[in-house]
Amino acid sequence: MLLEVSNLRLYFKTLRGDVKAVDGVSFSLDKGKTLGIVGESGCGKSSTANAIVRNLPRNVSRYEGRICLEDMDLIPLSEDEFRSKIRWRRISMVFQGAMNSLNPVLKVGFQVAEPLIIHKGLSRGEALKIVEELFRLVGLSSEIVNRYPHELSGGMKQRAIIAMALTLNPDILILDEPTSALDVSIQAQIMNLLKNLKRKLGISMIFITHDIALASDICDEFGVMYAGELVELGSAEKILPSPKHPYTQKLLSSIPRLHSDKTPEFIPGAPPDLVAPPSGCRFHPRCPYVMDKCSRENPPNTLVNGGFVKCWLYK
Ligand SMILES: Nc1ncnc2c1ncn2[C@@H]1O[C@H](COP(=O)(O)OP(=O)(O)OP(=O)(O)O)[C@@H](O)[C@H]1O
Ligand code: SF4
Ligand SMILES: [Mg+2]
Repeated sequence: MLLEVSNLRLYFKTLRGDVKAVDGVSFSLDKGKTLGIVGESGCGKSSTANAIVRNLPRNVSRYEGRICLEDMDLIPLSEDEFRSKIRWRRISMVFQGAMNSLNPVLKVGFQVAEPLIIHKGLSRGEALKIVEELFRLVGLSSEIVNRYPHELSGGMKQRAIIAMALTLNPDILILDEPTSALDVSIQAQIMNLLKNLKRKLGISMIFITHDIALASDICDEFGVMYAGELVELGSAEKILPSPKHPYTQKLLSSIPRLHSDKTPEFIPGAPPDLVAPPSGCRFHPRCPYVMDKCSRENPPNTLVNGGFVKCWLYK
C-alpha cells in the first residue's frame, strides 16, 4: 500500500471550544489509484488533506493518528524532515482556490519553477526548461511561462497550478476542489487532463470535491465524509450504483439526472456544528432510518462489499 491513514484527528481551538474537523479518519491509497473524498461543505475534506501534507494553521489543538507513506510514519517526522523529504517530493497538493493566489507581479513560469529552484537547487534557466516541458504535459504552450497571471484564463491558471504540483515528480497528488471555480466546459477539460496524467504518469491521486458526479469518472474508490468522520468507503463500482450509508444515499439522490423522471432530493437539515457534534451517529438528526441506539452509540465501521460503512443498519 502506498499511503495508509489511520485514526487521523485534527482539531482546531476556537473561543467556543475545539472544532473536531477530522475525527478518526482511516483509509488507504494504492499506487496509480484515485480516491475521491466527497461530502457537504464543512465536513472536513480540506482539513483531512491539509493534515496529510501538514499544512496546519496556528490554532491546531490536536493532531494525531498515523499517516504511513510506504513504511514511513509521517507524523513523528520533524518539520525539516517533512519539508525536505515529503512535501512536494512525495506528496504534493493543489490547494482549494490556489489558482487565485498566484502572485500577480511575477511571471507564471517563474512561480511554477520555484519548487525546482528551492528544493532541487536548479538555476533559474534549468528550472524554466523543466517548466516548459511540464506546461506541455498539462496542455499549455511553452510561451505561457512568460505571462503574468492576469494574462491567463481560469482554466490556464489551474493547469499551471497542476504543473507546479508535478514539478518534483510526486507519488501522490492531492487535488482540493480543483474545478469548482471553473465553468462546466473548462471543468470537463481539467478532468480530462487529470485522467490523462493518471494514465501517463501512473500517479496516485486524492480528489476532493462536493460533486460526486464530477468525480465519478476518475475515481477508483470513494470515501464519503460527514461531520469530520468517514462514513462510507469503497470502490466506485460498488458505491455509485448501490450506496449503503443513508448519508451517501441522500448525497447521490441529490444529483440531478438528465434522463430520469425522479426529482433530485435534498438532504433535510444542515450539517452539524463540529464543536459539539450530535451524540452517537453524527448523522442521526437527519437520518430517515434513525433508531433509538443511533443517538446513544457511535456505530463502528462494518465491512461491507470490500469497503466499510459506519452505520448501525449493517451491524
Ligand atoms: N483554522 C481553523 N480554525 C477553526 N475552524 C476551522 C479552521 N479550519 C477549518 N475549520 C472548520 O473545520 C471544519 C471543516 O472545514 P474544512 O475546510 O475541512 O471543510 P470542507 O469539507 O473542506 O468544506 P468545503 O467543501 O466548504 O471546502 C469547518 O467547520 C471549518 O469551519
Ligand atoms: S447509524 Fe442510525 S442514524 Fe446513523 S446513519 Fe445509520 S441508521 Fe442512520
Ligand atoms: Mg474544502
